[in-house]
Order: sequence, then C-alpha cells, then structure tokens
Amino acid sequence: MRELSEVETVGVVGAGTMGNGIAQVAAVNGYDVVMRDVEESFVDRGMEAIEDSLSRFVRKDELSQQEADAAVDRVYGTTDLDALSTADLVVEAVIEEMDVKRDVFADLDRVCEEGVVLATNTSTLSITTIAAATDRPELVVGLHFMNPVPVMKGVELVVGEKTDEAVVDTAHEFAESLGKETWEADDKPGFVTNRILMPWINEGVRAYDEGVAAKSDIDRGMTLGTNVPMGPLELADHIGLDVVLDASETLHEELGDRYKPAYLVKRKVDAGDLGKKSGKGFYEYD
Ligand code: 3HC
Repeated sequence: MRELSEVETVGVVGAGTMGNGIAQVAAVNGYDVVMRDVEESFVDRGMEAIEDSLSRFVRKDELSQQEADAAVDRVYGTTDLDALSTADLVVEAVIEEMDVKRDVFADLDRVCEEGVVLATNTSTLSITTIAAATDRPELVVGLHFMNPVPVMKGVELVVGEKTDEAVVDTAHEFAESLGKETWEADDKPGFVTNRILMPWINEGVRAYDEGVAAKSDIDRGMTLGTNVPMGPLELADHIGLDVVLDASETLHEELGDRYKPAYLVKRKVDAGDLGKKSGKGFYEYD
C-alpha cells in the first residue's frame, strides 16, 4: 500500500461542488492534483469555482494571493481518465449513483498503480459495494467531505467490510494533512452524519408543510434555539434539494419508513427548485 509519505499527487474524480472543493484543499495543502471530469465544461466550471473560493480566503486575509495562485497552478484539470495514472491517492466525488460509482472504481482499478488507495466521497452509498467493483477492496475507504469543503473542518471516515486497517490510518492522516478532523463510521447507510441530518432536514420541511411555523421561524428556531449555523430549510437549500432527496431515498430504501423523504422536497425537485444552485429552493437567491 502507498503510504501518505509517498503521496505527492492526488487524483480527484468529478469537478462538481465536492470534487472541486477537495481538489482545492489538496492543492492548498501542497499536493499536486489531477482533477478529472467527463466534459471540458465541467472541468472549466470546477477550476472557476476553485479560483472563486480561493479569492474569498484572500479577501479575508487567510491566504496570500501568491498562495492562492500557487494552489491553482497545482491543479491539472482534465477529461483524460489515464491522467489519473499519476495519482498516489484518489478521491472519487461523482454523482450519487451506485452504477456510476462502480464503473468509476472499475476504471480507477485499471488505471491506477498497484497499492494506490481509492477513496469515495459517497454520502450514503455502501463503501463495500463500491469496493467490490475493484480487485483491491482492501484499499477502498470512504472519505466523506462536508459542503462547502474548503470551509468545513470535518471529514467522515467510513470503513468498508474489507478496508485494511493501514488504509484507515492513511485516510485519517490524509484528511489531517488537509487541515481536517475526522471521525470514523461503519459502512451503514448514511453513516453518522446523513443518517441523522437527513431526517432532521425532512422533519423541518414537514413542519413547514404542516403549518407549524413560517419557514424563517423554523430556521430561526433551530439556529437560535439549538446553536446550529443553519436551520433545516436553509441548509437544504445550501446542500441542494436534489442531493437531499437522493440521500433520503437511499436511506428510506435501506432503513424503512422513518426515513421517508418529505413530500415538499420531492415536489420542489420535480419543479427544478434545487436550492441555492438553481436560484430558488425554500428561499430565493441572486
Ligand atoms: N469557499 C467556498 N464557499 C465558501 C467559502 C469559501 N472559501 N467561504 C464561505 N463560503 C460560502 C458559504 O456556503 C456561503 O455561500 P454563499 O455566499 O453562496 O451564500 C457563503 O460562502 C457564506 O459566507 P460567509 O463568509 O458568510 O460564511 P459563514 O461564516 O456564514 O459560514 C458556512 C458559512 C460555513 C457555510 C456556515 O453557514 C455553516 O457552517 N453552515 C452549515 C454547513 C453545513 O452544515 N454543511 C454540511 C452539510 S451536510 C454535507 O455536506 C454532507 C452531504 O453528504 C450532504
């Protein structure tokens, strides 16, 4: 197995919100990064998001312009799958569909060198099932980053049925090398975070739908009343209602009725109101 001390280049599969965030924190922390997506326009959007996010840190004096520029230079965006062959550790962050993830892992297993650890950023899917698409299930681990990745301190480390203990240690060390803190979860649906967060969000949506309070009062009630940074409706918009629906449906399928997604989440996704990213969810955004 490739130890963290041997990791110079990090591969990131997927240049979306999570992928570009992971690529950014890896680059800021001195790794060379290969960020791969299937279309040039996705890669370009990912690179722009990295530059935008870094400029926020520069504005807040948390990074110098030179450090931000150097981080951008360390990210190589590409559509070429074979470019991932140079990676010493890979994090996958493509859409939350098991078939797609399994295809990506089969490809990574073929392209990446022997001993390279393959991590998945899945939020609810089984690490064990994803790992079974490879001939190296012992080197597959879950590294579940939180959105927005450059800002959120925590990374959930998920241990699959076959994940080797040394791989778990390396995954912890890797997350720490990105300035993150970890906690460990077994490979059970939703792990710790989404198993608890998704019913919380869905209950907030139901409370709104059932007229318990105005949406802003539900969010204020939870932020002021329990000291969380965002209330459930605001957080749903931040995460993306499509992401909330997908995660909730997986949990519902695996764990039964107490995880049933709120009707209003589904109706809004059907209407294309996905939250901040589409300009409208429970609230409206510029
Ligand atoms: N890079 C990218 N985004 C940044 C950023 C940076 N450097 N700095 C701030 N942000 C984002 C915020 O998301 C928000 O976006 P907007 O401008 O588009 O509205 C905005 O910038 C707010 O900026 P602020 O400087 O005012 O930041 P705050 O101090 O208000 O903190 C926050 C923002 C950290 C997002 C805080 O509100 C928070 O902690 N919210 C809860 C987030 C959370 O719970 N995330 C986990 C979601 S669950 C998850 O990811 C799991 C998945 O599987 C579903």
